[in-house]
Amino acid sequence: MKTINVIVAIVVAALFIGCGGGEQREAPPGVKPKSMVKKEEPAGPDKGVGPIKSIDIPATIDDALAATGKEVFEAKCTACHKIGKRFVGPDLTGVVDRREPEWIMNMILDPELMVKENETAKALLAEYMSPMANQSLTEEEARSILEYFRTL
Ligand code: HEC
Repeated sequence: MKTINVIVAIVVAALFIGCGGGEQREAPPGVKPKSMVKKEEPAGPDKGVGPIKSIDIPATIDDALAATGKEVFEAKCTACHKIGKRFVGPDLTGVVDRREPEWIMNMILDPELMVKENETAKALLAEYMSPMANQSLTEEEARSILEYFRTL
């Protein structure tokens, strides 16, 4: 009789533990565990976020536009950027080779949004530890600077 009581007690205990554990792990129906939710990756080239969705860049450089861009750059950007070396911000030599033209213009026109939502810009902010200032340029001015960057 004693042995049977002990066995019953063990079986009851095992059932109790088994059920309790199982129930806690169950997610409510329709809710996917975090590990199963895939993070959206941006498709295609990284154009950044901001007013510029798509621009056409002619194969040949427009020298007059680049000259205008150089002037705007020297007036509005050299407080933080030096060509040929790292300063408050990155060296912009070769920036057209590492970024999409749309990305560069969005960074110039809306750096606040870029460092909030674009992974590349976020990483730059983390590296340089000071935010890029919005210089309130027009799209035309930003485009001329982009042309100037093509000459570097
Ligand atoms: C107050 C300083 C400051 C000013 C002014 C400034 N920038 Fe920046 N810029 C930065 C910093 C710092 C970064 C790195 C990203 C960050 O920290 O937000 C950066 C990043 C950039 C990048 C991305 C570089 C890369 O390697 O991808 C471009 C392009 C750029 N700046 C262009 C400009 C242009 C064009 C102007 C002038 C209209 C300008 N910046 C004015 C500080 C500045």
